[in-house]
Amino acid sequence: MCGIVGIVGITNTVPRMMEALHRLEYRGYDSAGVATLHGGELHRCRAVGKIAALDSKLVDQPIKGDIGIGHTRWATHGEAVEVNAHPHMADGLAVVHNGIIENFASLKKELIENGHNFEGETDTEVVAHLISEYLARGLAPKDAVFETLKRIEGAFALAIIIKNENERIFAARRGSPLVVGMGKGENYLGSDAIALASLSNKLIYLEEGDWAEISREAVTVFDMTGAVVTRPVTYSQVSNTFADKGNYRHFMQKEIFEQPFILAQTIGKYFDQTGGGVKLPAGDFDFANVSKVTIIACGTSYYAALVAKFWLEKMARISVEVDIASEFRYRDPVYTEGGLAIFISQSGETADTLAALKHAKAAGQSILSILNAEESSMSRESDMVFPIYAGPEIGVASTKAFTCQLIVLAALATEIARARGKLDEAGVVSAINSVGEIPKLVADVLSNHKGIEKIAHKIAKARDILFVGRGLHSAIAMEGALKLKEISYIHAEGYAAGELKHGPIALIDENVPVIGLAPHNELFDKTVSNLQEIMARQGQVIVISDHDPSAVGSNGEDLMSFKMPKCDDIASPIVYAVPVQLLAYYAAVEKGTDADQPRNLAKSVTVE
Ligand code: G6P
Repeated sequence: MCGIVGIVGITNTVPRMMEALHRLEYRGYDSAGVATLHGGELHRCRAVGKIAALDSKLVDQPIKGDIGIGHTRWATHGEAVEVNAHPHMADGLAVVHNGIIENFASLKKELIENGHNFEGETDTEVVAHLISEYLARGLAPKDAVFETLKRIEGAFALAIIIKNENERIFAARRGSPLVVGMGKGENYLGSDAIALASLSNKLIYLEEGDWAEISREAVTVFDMTGAVVTRPVTYSQVSNTFADKGNYRHFMQKEIFEQPFILAQTIGKYFDQTGGGVKLPAGDFDFANVSKVTIIACGTSYYAALVAKFWLEKMARISVEVDIASEFRYRDPVYTEGGLAIFISQSGETADTLAALKHAKAAGQSILSILNAEESSMSRESDMVFPIYAGPEIGVASTKAFTCQLIVLAALATEIARARGKLDEAGVVSAINSVGEIPKLVADVLSNHKGIEKIAHKIAKARDILFVGRGLHSAIAMEGALKLKEISYIHAEGYAAGELKHGPIALIDENVPVIGLAPHNELFDKTVSNLQEIMARQGQVIVISDHDPSAVGSNGEDLMSFKMPKCDDIASPIVYAVPVQLLAYYAAVEKGTDADQPRNLAKSVTVE
C-alpha cells in the first residue's frame, strides 16, 4: 500500500514522477503528492483523491526540480485530507513513507515536548521531525537519517530529500519493499519494478534493514549496522506499456471479458493438450512425498485456496490446511516435516502473506508461490514460483487473476494426485480435457451477460444479499459476496448453504435476495433443500444453475435464474466464478460506484 517514487535527475523530475505515480495508483488513491529540490529549496504539491487531482493541481501550482520524491497514499493513520498527504515536511526536509511507524505516539510526544509542531495525524510526520531534530543538533544529513532509523519501529519504506542536499535522496526499507533503479547520470527509487518501468530496468532490491544514499552517479547501500553492503543488480522484465481499457468502460469489465483468452493462455502453459501431461515449473521437487499441504492467502486469493483444498483432498487424498495470512503466523501453526506451504497472491507483495511465507520458510517448509507478479517480494523468497500469466490486472477487485490462480491450482492438484498414485494416466488425460473446455464454457457464460445484467438491476437496491453454495461452490459464494461488497458497497455475505440455518437465516425476509449457486452435481438436492428453507421465509432466491430452475421450486412465481453450461468438478468453480463477477460489476454500474477503484481499497496491501 502507498506507492513511492524518487528521482535524482539531470532534468526536471516532476513529469516523470507523475508518470510513475500513475503506475503506482493500484497501491492506493486517497491522496498524492510530490516534493522537489530546486535551487537548494524544497517545493511541494499535494492533492486529496486520485493522481488525476494532483495532475490538475500541478497545472495551477507547478513545481519543478532535478531531485524529487512522490507518493500515492492509502491512509493508515489520519484521514485522507491534504495535511495528512505525503510528502511530509519538517524544517528543511521532506519524507514519503509506505508502512506503519508503530512507536509514532511516543516519538511524537517527545518531539512535541522538544518544540516540534505537527501539521496532521500521520505516523509519518514523526520521521520528518525526528530527522530535523537530529539535523538541528548538528548531525550531518546521513547521520541524522541513520539515528532516526535506529529510533523508529514498525514496517517502512522511506524516501527523504533534504534542503541544500542537491546531490542525493536517502532511502530506507524495513518490512516494506523498495527498489533502486539505475540510469545514465541519474538514479531512481520506487516501491517496485512497475513504478520504475519507464525509467530503468537495471534494479537493486534493497534487503530487510537496508538504507541507501542515492546520488546521480552512485548508489551506496548500508545495512542495519551502517556498514556498506553490496546487493545484486537484477534486470526487470516488467513492461513499460500502460494497460488500456480498449472499448470497455472499465478495466474490470475488460478483465472479466478477456478471461476466455487469458485462461486459454494459462492452460497452455500448464496443461499439454497433445499428450505431454501437466507441466509444472517445479524443477525436480518431489510431490509424491509431501507430508501435508498448507495454503495461505488473503482476500480473493484465499478463496482460490479454499477451492484448491477441495481439489487436493479429493484428487490427491492429501491433508490440506488453509488459512488467511493475517491470522496464520499468530496462531503458532503446527508444521510437519516435509510439508509444502503454498502462498497464493496476485501481487506477490501482500504484507501478511509475505510474513506468513517467511514464517513457513523459517520452519523448514518447502515454499511454493502462485503469483501474477513474477518479480515480487514473494517470488524472491520462494523455492518454486508458479506464474499465473493473467497479465496486468488493473481493476482493484480481482477477477481474471482469480480464475487463472484456479487453473494453476488445478494443474498442481492433478500433478500431486498423479505423483501420489491417486490418479492414473487416464485420469490425468481426463483432467486435461476437462480444463481444456474451460475457455469455451466461460465464453458461453459471457455471451449471456445480459441475463446477469437483468439480475443485477433487480438486486442493486437491496441492502443485504446472501450468496450460498455447497462444496466447491461455497468458496465461490464467498468470492461472489466479496466481489459484490467491494465494488457496489452492498452488504453481502457468502455461506456454505447448509450453514444458513445455524444463524444467517435469521436475516431472511422478502427484501433479502439470496444467490444460490446450484450446479447439478451430487450436492444439488441438498442445495435445493437449503434454497427451499430460504423461500419458505420469503427470501428472494435467484438460482445460478445448469439445471432447470423449476427443480428448485418457486415462490408462487418463477424464480429468477441464470442458466449455466454443464461442467465437471474441475471446470465448475472457475466457470461459476464468472456470473458472480458479472453480477458485482453490473450492480456497481447500476449504483454508479467506481468499479475499478472502489473506496477504501488498494490492489497491493503492503501493511499488516
Ligand atoms: C486486496 C485486493 C484483493 C486481493 C487481496 C489479496 O485486498 O483488493 O483483490 O484479493 O488484496 O491480494 P494478493 O495480491 O495477495 O492476491
